[in-house]
Amino acid sequence: MTAEQDPLVARLRAAGCVFAEDEAALLRAEAPDAGTLERWTARRVAGEPLEQVVGWAQFAGRRLVVAPGVFVPRTRTLALVRQAAPLLAPGDVLVDLCCGTGAIGVALAAAVPGLEVHAVDIDPAAVDCAAHNLGPAGTVYAGDLDAPLPLRLLGQVTVVVANAPYVPTDAIATMPPEARDHERRAALDGGPDGTDLQRRAAQAAARWLAPGGWFLVETSRGQAPVTAALVEQAGLRAHVHLDDEVDGTVVLGQR
Ligand SMILES: C[S@@+](CC[C@H](N)C(=O)[O-])C[C@H]1O[C@@H](n2cnc3c(N)ncnc32)[C@H](O)[C@@H]1O
Repeated sequence: MTAEQDPLVARLRAAGCVFAEDEAALLRAEAPDAGTLERWTARRVAGEPLEQVVGWAQFAGRRLVVAPGVFVPRTRTLALVRQAAPLLAPGDVLVDLCCGTGAIGVALAAAVPGLEVHAVDIDPAAVDCAAHNLGPAGTVYAGDLDAPLPLRLLGQVTVVVANAPYVPTDAIATMPPEARDHERRAALDGGPDGTDLQRRAAQAAARWLAPGGWFLVETSRGQAPVTAALVEQAGLRAHVHLDDEVDGTVVLGQR
């Protein structure tokens, strides 16, 4: 059967899936039976991200569980992972604020054996995903930013990472429907200029970091100067890193 004759490819293509053949192959490979394949296809055709439909996403070479509504890890976030990994050594403490599926913490725990990882998210579904994905490699808390972290970590953390929501509120309407309609608004909305959560995360990081410790926050190219300024305002020395390979932008701040 050619791609033109394959009804599954045709349905996906008609729904606007650019990689319809690849998606059809994945759906067929993952669906346990014909009924599931039909239900999954209907969800995908209705615009749900493929990762939420099949229940997992690939990030940094690993399969991560992704529940419906939970933010799907993006390739550009590898920029943050690449910058953070060399700053960490076995035994160090890593805090992942706004952890979503736990993608960043999972990738760093794999890159640096023996890390102590603490991850927080406000969305219970994301917390469940992160707990599953991190397993024994870390502890996951439900709550607002740093609020649930154990006080014994104050001033002891080597690296705080945050891919906090950073889409300006008015720009959410212009996002692709996959994100706009199928990822929780709390995972996207960064307030009027996109930096509300970044500002709060930077101020929190300054409290938890050990002297010389690092805060790394993902941002957009356009927002990077504002993000760097708010990192400086939190009392950290900031610089911007652009990763053209994955189209990622990271602001690093050192205490
Ligand atoms: C852009 S997603 C990033 C998820 C993950 N870090 C990643 O890179 O794939 C932002 C996450 O922040 C969480 N979040 C939003 N507001 C929060 C808050 N006040 N405290 C903790 N987590 C929050 C959302 O639930 C969402 O999972």
